[in-house]
Amino acid sequence: MMQDIKEVWISEEELQQKVKELGAKISEDYKDKNLLMVSVLKGSVVFMADLMRAITVPAAIDIMSVSSYGAGTKSTGVVRIIKDLDTNVADYDLLLVEDILDSGNTLAYLRELLSDRHPRSIKIATLLDKPSRRTADIHADYMGFEIADQFVVGYGLDYNEKYRNLSFIGILKPCVYGGE
Ligand code: IMP
Ligand code: MG
Repeated sequence: MMQDIKEVWISEEELQQKVKELGAKISEDYKDKNLLMVSVLKGSVVFMADLMRAITVPAAIDIMSVSSYGAGTKSTGVVRIIKDLDTNVADYDLLLVEDILDSGNTLAYLRELLSDRHPRSIKIATLLDKPSRRTADIHADYMGFEIADQFVVGYGLDYNEKYRNLSFIGILKPCVYGGE
């Protein structure tokens, strides 16, 4: 797997440090709330697992699976729900946990869908933000790292379902994309 990596973009240490900071901030903001962390699969699974353990107030968790990308690196703009929440969100303060805010289509769609179920509040935590790529009107309440328009993998993020299990965020060698 490592032979496909051109460069380490964000190291494991930097990620862990940032997650701790975000966890502390969220813990402070949600101390008098009823937090439900919603992991948006599959990309957020690593961030979610680390972030929830950096949070020191009670937190319920649930999982939602959506797909906005095909097999490549460009958004199709189509959001498909693969698995919905199990929780009735009415009494909860929702925190949507995402790996990356790119076009914003996925989260804009999800926020809309979930606000119709009338939770107490909805906020967004994203590990990475690519503001230059934004087309939807959405911003993150908690953000780890802002990155340029660059395709990255690792720490949950994939290319063709691979590289999610890297413990850092990296950039692939161009040859990995083959014919694209
Ligand atoms: P959006 O709807 O365009 O904001 O896309 C969000 C989703 O696209 C993320 O949850 C990722 O699964 C995927 N994505 C966007 N940029 C990247 C990237 O650089 N690497 C891997 N996946 C990405
Ligand atoms: Mg993906």
